[in-house]
Amino acid sequence: MSDANLNVYRIRGHRPLRGGIRAQAAKNAVTKQLVASLLTAEPCRLRDVPDITEIDVVLDMLTEIGATYDRRDDGSVDLATPRIASTAISERYSGVNRIPILLIAPLLHRAGMARVPVVGGCNIGERPIDFHVDLLRKMGAEIDEDDDGYTARADRLRGTVLALPYPSVGATENAIFAACLAEGTTVINNAAVEPEIVDTVLFLQKMGALIQIDTDRKIVIEGVEELHGAHHDPVRDRIEVASFAMASVATEGRLRIEGADQAAMITFLNILRKIGGGFEVDAGGITFFRAREALKPIHIETDVHPGFMTDWQQPMVTLLTQAHGVSVVHETVYEKRFGYTSTLNAMGANITLTNDCLGGKACRFTDRNFPHSAIVQGATALAGRQIEIPDLRAGFAYLLAALIADGETTIFGTRFIERGYVNVPERLASVGADIDVPSRQAAVA
Ligand code: EPZ
Repeated sequence: MSDANLNVYRIRGHRPLRGGIRAQAAKNAVTKQLVASLLTAEPCRLRDVPDITEIDVVLDMLTEIGATYDRRDDGSVDLATPRIASTAISERYSGVNRIPILLIAPLLHRAGMARVPVVGGCNIGERPIDFHVDLLRKMGAEIDEDDDGYTARADRLRGTVLALPYPSVGATENAIFAACLAEGTTVINNAAVEPEIVDTVLFLQKMGALIQIDTDRKIVIEGVEELHGAHHDPVRDRIEVASFAMASVATEGRLRIEGADQAAMITFLNILRKIGGGFEVDAGGITFFRAREALKPIHIETDVHPGFMTDWQQPMVTLLTQAHGVSVVHETVYEKRFGYTSTLNAMGANITLTNDCLGGKACRFTDRNFPHSAIVQGATALAGRQIEIPDLRAGFAYLLAALIADGETTIFGTRFIERGYVNVPERLASVGADIDVPSRQAAVA
């Protein structure tokens, strides 16, 4: 088996997805809850932890710090960090994901110092961490930055009033972790209130934290002396649910997603309905299907919650290549999140990018020369070809393109997909997709 065969999916399009799948727990909640467990020396249990490489990476990082964990047969992870064995995260995690910067506050609380490497993650924009560093400094941490990472020290963090320049998910989580065990009260103005953050707040509340989510995206945290162990069933992954929902609509199938949560997806469901997708909500999930034969175009702007998620944008643009007319998508969260569209164009789509804010409002990227609006002219047939994934969410957009393309598509770089989605080829095949993974066949042979 050659290396070129690793990380490859082969898909033949035009098979409607029919049947049922179960939604996985949200990667972007579980990874943060693994970090939150460091705020206590007592054992914690997270149920139904998805078996994806991103979780493995975070568990490895925590092991370096002194955590031990047990992945149980029922999918839960038991973990505990009775003592901090090391306050430094090694440089092999440099640039890997967004987690190291979130480890500073727990390490300061537990050991008074922290050394973490520079953070990374998908290449979808500059992704600075200035808000994180500023808020930790405002709460009393001394932080030295160098080319390789950050060194932080604090005897005890102190509560303060913070105003985030933008409602950043990671910076809000960082401030919450810093504030839970800080001396006094912390107010986070202009906080992000994504369902994954609220879910982590629920876990922290079970651990003994005092966190109030007020109106106008204000979060108030009264520091407590200590937190204790807790069990938690993390929120389902609304990015995964929307991705499979769009695949169901695109292939004119009918897919029930067990665990899909309507409340977390109101904006998505409205947009899906407006373009001609259908859904039925039952007690345990949502069934998605095509309600109109010809999909309708739409204008969408991505935004922080409760707006249209930036992580729904890529498969939605792929779906909109099948709508009849001109759709406009204005990306206001990341400045560089349309890179994947050139490959869709190579498959037959007609997507034009512009630096202008094509929306009702100007965004942070106005006059900054970022191609952050897309004009999608549909409907266009897509043709299968060899394509390579640039990042996680673009990865599902390409899967979706392959599922509706004529002929066969070979997708390289599928390790990006496996970072965030559980067993995608197996689950897609179980609902009717014609997909195979050549490297796995070779391994079996
Ligand atoms: C989280 O990233 C998610 N990642 C992202 O999902 C998601 O797209 C994003 O939130 C928005 O919902 C994880 O939870 C691991 P941000 P995060 O801080 O926290 C700017 C996926 O595919 N900013 O809310 O890193 C930043 O550049 C990933 O699962 C600063 O300028 O996102 C961006 O433009 C991709 N300075 C905006 O804020 C800072 O210090 C929002 O970023 C921090 C952020």
